[in-house]
Amino acid sequence: MSVDHRFANKKLMTPGPVSLPDSVKYSLGHSECHHRTKEFEEVLARVFQNLKSVFQTQQHCYMLSSTGTGAMEAALVHCLSPGDKLLTINAGKFGERWGKIAKAYGFQCDDLDFPWGESLDLNKVEEALQKGYKALAFQACETSTGSLLPSKDLAALANQYSALSICDGITALGAVDLPMDDWGLDVVVGGSQKAFMLPTGMSFISLSQKAEAVQSSTPKYYWDLLAEKKSNLSGQTRWSTPNHFVLALDIVLDYVLNEVGLKKHLQSIIDRAEFFRSQVKLELYPQNPSPSLSCLKTPAGVASGEWVKAIADQGYVIMGGQDQLKNKVLRIGHMGAMTKEDLQNTADLINKQLS
Ligand SMILES: Cc1ncc(COP(=O)(O)O)c(C=O)c1O
Repeated sequence: MSVDHRFANKKLMTPGPVSLPDSVKYSLGHSECHHRTKEFEEVLARVFQNLKSVFQTQQHCYMLSSTGTGAMEAALVHCLSPGDKLLTINAGKFGERWGKIAKAYGFQCDDLDFPWGESLDLNKVEEALQKGYKALAFQACETSTGSLLPSKDLAALANQYSALSICDGITALGAVDLPMDDWGLDVVVGGSQKAFMLPTGMSFISLSQKAEAVQSSTPKYYWDLLAEKKSNLSGQTRWSTPNHFVLALDIVLDYVLNEVGLKKHLQSIIDRAEFFRSQVKLELYPQNPSPSLSCLKTPAGVASGEWVKAIADQGYVIMGGQDQLKNKVLRIGHMGAMTKEDLQNTADLINKQLS
């Protein structure tokens, strides 16, 4: 067995997966345990407790062995019964996903389309909600455009029209202030490969009391959150626990919550974004940028994909655009392990492409 050295010495400056802290890499490589042991149960209990602080909720937070999309699917099968109507905010590539999952299950779904990168017209959302929906689903941060959506306002509007608010916080949770209980969000979803600074493959979800009380009649087995909670409350996960991830997550949560403090940690992401944007000579694409990533417009006539390749050759991995933004933007993440020097070097490499 040997390591593929093509992937060594590259710095991931992407908006997920992010670069892992050394302590996470060390834990993944050196800690082994069985999940049905007393020592591990202690870690599990602490992780469940600490996750509540990141979600800023008193409610239970679930860990699932899936990427974020799995938790999005769990959210919909938990909340919606056949015939229920879902309204989605479709303001980018990930906004489309709520509708795609809903349609796969045969739920009634209306996608409310918004121009990519523009601030949301909340009047349009309110007008649509008046038709009566079981739930409103949206992204806290739309990773394809780098936009921060107004989650607080969307939750308030959903609540006003008796719809559950279902928030994809995959590129926001742990990077952007998203106080679930204070803002009245009914469901929040997170993903390991973003601000949780872990590899891809684990997702998180929490349900408000109102959402938890929904007993949807949609068939479910793996995604049965209430059965999962029963297991969690007895110190287990329902299926084999992704124990390497949990041990590393324990370290990340201790760092974010105890060593740094959540508020300061969120501020550090804002500081990274501001510093990077002050150094790079390209304009931001979204009207309301998220601190978790910078989506930058590349000059007309330039294929941004070529810049991504040239910059990767220098050891820094960034992303181009998707779909209608293919070859038009660059996307640089501000989550995960990175130094000011990494941000500076990335900005310099982008600026060099301009000259
Ligand atoms: C906002 C958002 N939603 C959903 C997803 C999908 O998550 P996953 O690829 O982990 O299933 C991503 C992935 O990058 C994302 O950025």
